[in-house]
Amino acid sequence: MAISSRPRRRGLRSTLAVLLVLALAAFAFAWRAPIARVATPATASFDAATVHRGARLAAMGNCVSCHTTGDGAAFAGGRGLPTPFGTVFATNITPDGETGIGGWSEAAFMRALREGVSRDGHLLYPAFPYDHFTRLADGDIHALYAYLMTRTPVHAVAPANRLTFPLQFRPLLAGWNLLFLQQGPRTQTASGEAGRGAYLVEALAHCSACHSPRNRLGAEQHDRFLAGGEAEGWHASALNGQSESPLPWSTEALAAYLRTGLVPGHAMTAGPMQDVVRSQSEVDPADVHAIATYITGAMGPPSPERQTREAAARQRAQGPLHQDGSPGARLYADNCAACHDAGRGLSSNSALRLPLAVALYMPDPRNLLHIVRQGIQPVAGRPGRWMPPFEGTLNEEQLATLADWLRREATGEPPWTDLARALQDTRPPTP
Ligand code: HEC
Ligand code: HEC
Ligand code: HEC
Repeated sequence: MAISSRPRRRGLRSTLAVLLVLALAAFAFAWRAPIARVATPATASFDAATVHRGARLAAMGNCVSCHTTGDGAAFAGGRGLPTPFGTVFATNITPDGETGIGGWSEAAFMRALREGVSRDGHLLYPAFPYDHFTRLADGDIHALYAYLMTRTPVHAVAPANRLTFPLQFRPLLAGWNLLFLQQGPRTQTASGEAGRGAYLVEALAHCSACHSPRNRLGAEQHDRFLAGGEAEGWHASALNGQSESPLPWSTEALAAYLRTGLVPGHAMTAGPMQDVVRSQSEVDPADVHAIATYITGAMGPPSPERQTREAAARQRAQGPLHQDGSPGARLYADNCAACHDAGRGLSSNSALRLPLAVALYMPDPRNLLHIVRQGIQPVAGRPGRWMPPFEGTLNEEQLATLADWLRREATGEPPWTDLARALQDTRPPTP
């Protein structure tokens, strides 16, 4: 015993020394000074034009949709955001002195957006897209501050985060920031409308937070910008040259889609994109157009491959889907054809022919399965189009048969490979 314990203890001691050094390093990078509380600035101290501009910028940044629960007060926080590492709850950003940001100076607010540090010095999780907001211009941060500080204060505390060990330990985020945060305002690289669009997309609208793939540590892969990503269990389409859309997007169609969620020839917005559209309808229309200009630029002129796909899709969408008598075809005929063979008309009983539905062209069938399970409800206040939910009407095997048949019959793309997994991933939680 006595003979072997010595080297072991020495090993232990050096491990402890290394851990101590690492902990000190983490502390040095992770420790951020608190910024002193201030009295909540009076509403009258902000001019109305700045507050109005801030309102539109806040809509562009989609602040309200993360910071508000389904039936809660605007900006009062409490909404849980699912991430691969657990659930992070958005906090109260109303000007309540105790539970919100009422005691925050503009410097503290700016530090949170630029560096992901809360007023009291704790590091914030990148579920809050500060890796995008860091790129905002000072004047835009000022307008956002003016807008939020003039909202109604609400007393509300968000629930505690539920994260996998050891991620509840916030100082670890210093490492994430060191690796992935490119801090500071964006330097304008292009001028004119596309330049404005690039700024909005990268800094405030954070489209790539959903539409770019992320690495294992949850950071966006910058070399695959807008190449398609994840959002709450949905696939967020590619918005670059790899766009899955059967019909190429024109700038005008895209601008109208972002503001209304519904344009001829394209699928209606669904899933997490509906919140984005709800916000985009409140921003400056010129800014939406700038985004559309930039995004269609990123998609580039349709490649020969995309042109071929467009021609094939238009051809297939000319009439009802071909009935080949297979089990999939019968499920389609019994459940979908009445509406989807008609082509989109005024009523919801006539909907897009499915060879034009982008969900069928995606790399996996999750969006199609979500739509069939849940149906589609219109974005609040937008043209009302409804599709009934089929959860409970079609069983898991029927869903798989139908998805597989639709993929083949409506698109001619290679079959989806992991249907069982996608069925599991899209199954609604049992109450
Ligand atoms: C994608 C969801 C999401 C969006 C969009 C979003 N936030 Fe947040 N925000 C969060 C989450 C989650 C937190 C809490 C992070 C944490 O506790 O580590 C947070 C925290 C904050 C904080 C720090 C609050 C504190 O008490 O530490 C501020 C300030 C903030 N957000 C402002 C904004 C503003 C302004 C916008 C719009 C321009 C915005 N957020 C948009 C998710 C979001
Ligand atoms: C919260 C995550 C999220 C954010 C942020 C987001 N999107 Fe989306 N978006 C999605 C998802 C999920 C889909 C797929 C569902 C659907 O088609 O409606 C989608 C679909 C789309 C589509 C349809 C693609 C097609 O080919 O039919 C377009 C266009 C689009 N988004 C553009 C944008 C733009 C531009 C922004 C930034 C202003 C943005 N999105 C921000 C999640 C998001
Ligand atoms: C009562 C009519 C109705 C039935 C039945 C129906 N849908 Fe839909 N579906 C709609 C409407 C309305 C939309 C919304 C957009 C539109 O008008 O195209 C829609 C949207 C969709 C979309 C997204 C593309 C889009 O057009 O926005 C897919 C995919 C889809 N349906 C698949 C199906 C499948 C598969 C079935 C059968 C299991 C089915 N639908 C049954 C009415 C219907």
